[in-house]
Amino acid sequence: MLVSDSSTPIAVPLSLHTPLVAMLGCQYPIICAGMGGVARAELAAAVSEAGGFGCMGMVRESAQFIRAQIEQYRALSARPFAVNIVPAATAPELLEQQIATLIEMKVTAVCLFWDVQSEVVQRFKGAGITVIHQVGSVADADKALAAGVDILIVQGVDAGGHVWATQSVYSLLPEICRNSKVPVVAAGGIATGQAIAAAMLLGAQGVSCGTAFLATFESNAHSYHKQRVLEASADDTLYTTKFHINWPDDAPVRVLRNSVTETSTAEQCDSAQRVKIGEQDGQPVFLFATDSPLRGASGELEKMALYAGRSCGEIKELCSAAQRVQRLVKETVQSLQRLATDQAPTADPESVSEVSSSPCMADQFSGDYSGHCDDEELFGFIAQLLEAERAVAKVCGFSMGQAGTSYRHDLLLRIHSDATENCEALAQCIEMLGKQTTSAIGSDFAKCMAINGFIARMQYIRNDQDEVIQNISEILPRVGNAQIFDELKKIRDRHRGNIELLDLLLK
Ligand SMILES: Cc1cc2nc3c(=O)[nH]c(=O)nc-3n(C[C@H](O)[C@H](O)[C@H](O)COP(=O)(O)O)c2cc1C
Repeated sequence: MLVSDSSTPIAVPLSLHTPLVAMLGCQYPIICAGMGGVARAELAAAVSEAGGFGCMGMVRESAQFIRAQIEQYRALSARPFAVNIVPAATAPELLEQQIATLIEMKVTAVCLFWDVQSEVVQRFKGAGITVIHQVGSVADADKALAAGVDILIVQGVDAGGHVWATQSVYSLLPEICRNSKVPVVAAGGIATGQAIAAAMLLGAQGVSCGTAFLATFESNAHSYHKQRVLEASADDTLYTTKFHINWPDDAPVRVLRNSVTETSTAEQCDSAQRVKIGEQDGQPVFLFATDSPLRGASGELEKMALYAGRSCGEIKELCSAAQRVQRLVKETVQSLQRLATDQAPTADPESVSEVSSSPCMADQFSGDYSGHCDDEELFGFIAQLLEAERAVAKVCGFSMGQAGTSYRHDLLLRIHSDATENCEALAQCIEMLGKQTTSAIGSDFAKCMAINGFIARMQYIRNDQDEVIQNISEILPRVGNAQIFDELKKIRDRHRGNIELLDLLLK
């Protein structure tokens, strides 16, 4: 940035290309916090694909589940990522299995939270894994640094979820940054570029945001939780110890106020008797448990732990993770630039690139920065996909006679019906883009029908479906239209379901 004294401007570099970015191998210093249950492969990969850094929240998850999530992440993104675990909240045997799995899977980085356990830090360091540690006090920052962590996340009391801090991140940052030889990241209550810029001015090299990414299409939070976050203001959150089941004692959380925080008594809260209020993935959810409602949760969602940072007051709409990253980057650049050039706020964020005068910001606006594909590119993609889906539907129709068994017949019917549904959805997407559909059929139809054997033909369809999954995964992070984004995701899911069935036939 440019700081001017009496006459000569002094160039001081303050850009988003902090050493943290180089260390993590991402584009922007924006980390998606490893939110247990909420930040799974889909969200982490979407953040990484958008240039941020994805972290999967795997607190107390089984080794098998963690392995599957890492595999899913790697299928969605080739970019580096982290996995979050919380040693203090995990039984020793499970913790051991988690550590062994993360080392065996050669993850880029782990993000640890709560007590600093030096031996855990050392295990990961010894395996060449980057260790990020979230702390909430100067004393814990010192412990983590002494244990040899590579990156510190400083969490402030405004954070959502479990909160290890008692002070604001803005009061913790200066002292911790002064004493730290490793990059420091700020967390807690941050959901705007202005807040990111403020954290950077206090010495942070980046930020870790939870609530801002909870309210995205890709997060695994229940839609009720997302909606409550969108409607909330900062003062609707509460720092409380009422949600405690499954965590060490005295572990405060920041949640949205609900009937539990407002009306339950200390006796009810301390009672050893468990009261079931819902279910998640076939498991009971108890009153006062730390489980927040995820996709598929049922029961009294209002009574569950609805984690949110004071940042919720800044989050007013649901969007894709890529849109969230892009907005944060744009706003941060605007804020830093305003400081650098002493300009009045620019109303239109798009116009920032035109007024940019600071050389250290220029690179933020070049190349693929804006992220979204334009309507023409999206239309081209959808039109081609529509032709491919028509081809699949037609191949299935023509192959019915060859099916032979009822299983094969039903399988063809299922793929045919999915492909038809996909065609309808894609035609609607084209309409949304204000374009015309044609009735063209993809060249795959002729290629596939030229294959005589039933099994060989099904193998072709299987490979074709797989290719579509890859293509959709590639374009999704760049799709800005929420409805089209959702439709493409549904089509990808249908293809995944078909592949599972085809694999049963082909194995
Ligand atoms: C829904 C939710 C779940 C969280 N789960 C975890 C977790 O499992 N592990 C962890 O280290 N931090 C967790 N956190 C805390 C975040 O790491 C981070 O400190 C916090 O989200 C920052 O505040 P913000 O939500 O205002 O951005 C969670 C936060 C939220 C909102």
